[in-house]
Amino acid sequence: MSEDQKATTPSAAALKARARRVHRGEATEAEARKRTSKASLQGMLQLPLLEALEEAGGKARPRDLYQQLATRLGVPDGLRQERRTCGDGQSYRVFDQQVRWARQTAVMEGLIADGTRGIWELADPGHTKLLRARRGVTLLIYSTDLGVALWTHAEDAASVIEPESVDLILTSPPYPVVARDYGRMDVPQWLDWMRRLTALWRDLLTDTGTLALNLGDVHVPGSPALSPYVERYVLSAIDECGLHLAGRMPWFSPTRIGNIQWTSKAKVRPKRQVEHVVLLSKAANPSWDITRLPPVPFSPDTHRWWQRKQQGRTQKRPSDYDIREEAFEPKGAGALPGNLIVAAGAPGMDAYSRRCRAAGLPRHSARFPAEVPRSIILTCTAPGETVYDPMAGSNVTGMVAQELGRHWISSEVMLRSVQGSAFRFDNLPGFSMKPLPPGVTP
Ligand SMILES: C[S@@+](CC[C@H](N)C(=O)[O-])C[C@H]1O[C@@H](n2cnc3c(N)ncnc32)[C@H](O)[C@@H]1O
Repeated sequence: MSEDQKATTPSAAALKARARRVHRGEATEAEARKRTSKASLQGMLQLPLLEALEEAGGKARPRDLYQQLATRLGVPDGLRQERRTCGDGQSYRVFDQQVRWARQTAVMEGLIADGTRGIWELADPGHTKLLRARRGVTLLIYSTDLGVALWTHAEDAASVIEPESVDLILTSPPYPVVARDYGRMDVPQWLDWMRRLTALWRDLLTDTGTLALNLGDVHVPGSPALSPYVERYVLSAIDECGLHLAGRMPWFSPTRIGNIQWTSKAKVRPKRQVEHVVLLSKAANPSWDITRLPPVPFSPDTHRWWQRKQQGRTQKRPSDYDIREEAFEPKGAGALPGNLIVAAGAPGMDAYSRRCRAAGLPRHSARFPAEVPRSIILTCTAPGETVYDPMAGSNVTGMVAQELGRHWISSEVMLRSVQGSAFRFDNLPGFSMKPLPPGVTP
């Protein structure tokens, strides 16, 4: 053997060590599979994994995907952290292991590239499997007596919707991916994208219409500090698109899980249980009416306070404000509604989820609960008006708009999501599913 060959050929000891590592890895997987795997679990994870990769711009680091998938799938904190120890004392996190298998299966099926170490990358067949709409093409997938569901990019949908015809645009876009060393949508790119879309959406709104966006906080990479991207977006919508900040209706979810790094491990940040919902409008006073919101029952304290007041036992309010107390008499249907939306995450075992599973379609993994669109639609629109969700996912917005007698339009870039969302409507008398054009095979 030449000196050069000696330098590049691993020693027998190194080869043995590598074989031991491979063997240990296989044993760990086999053990974990025995304990935790259900035959369908990898299959259930595969599409969300492909979607998460797609949303991250085609490639991502595994550790970011574990967290993103856990959040998208609503995996409770305890389960996300659960560890197992196998025969040789090696310990592993069960959920991460499941995701690694899903990735491994996807690699074997050619959906994920078997490439760079430490980065998972969607292969061309993976993109195709997700059936992402082609740019410039807008297809009607189904309709009801009140709405239409389009398979298309939000950018393209804007050109087929009548300008100044929409009373409420309500959506939850994918959040930016904060890691800067991969992917398309880092914060500056996301902001550029959203600025362009916001200008398009403004033109679709009626003069008294509203644009409502549900956005979640993301961390600055490697830091517990939060990215101020939501604030930057709101400022750009006001300064560059000429919109008004009409209000905020934050969504509080009591069931939200915490950030693994900064909440569960380091314990330096409380769980982020509140997501932003910012409402922007063309007019300073858009056509809102809070009397359309369901009445909030008066609290027993309010009744007690009023009785004491009647008996002359209470003179001033604790705040010392000198106000006309009669205005606060607890009469009528209930108290004035507040702007906080309180609702647990989307249900896991609803009819939509069961139908998706039975049809072999992926259940959308980043749905919001119906209470979010319901409060916003009731506040911002009257019956008969039009609601549009440009990034509709499983079309919860369309479903609630339909229930409330509003017209609706949805657009979504992933065909499988649009097809799954049809299960929310196909029992309605006016429902109609359109045939897919030749060559598109789900
Ligand atoms: C957070 S999810 C919305 C979930 C939805 N609110 C629900 O409850 O089902 C964001 C959606 O935006 C879609 N999306 C991303 N980019 C898009 C684009 N350019 N045009 C249309 N939809 C897009 C994604 O495929 C994803 O389904």
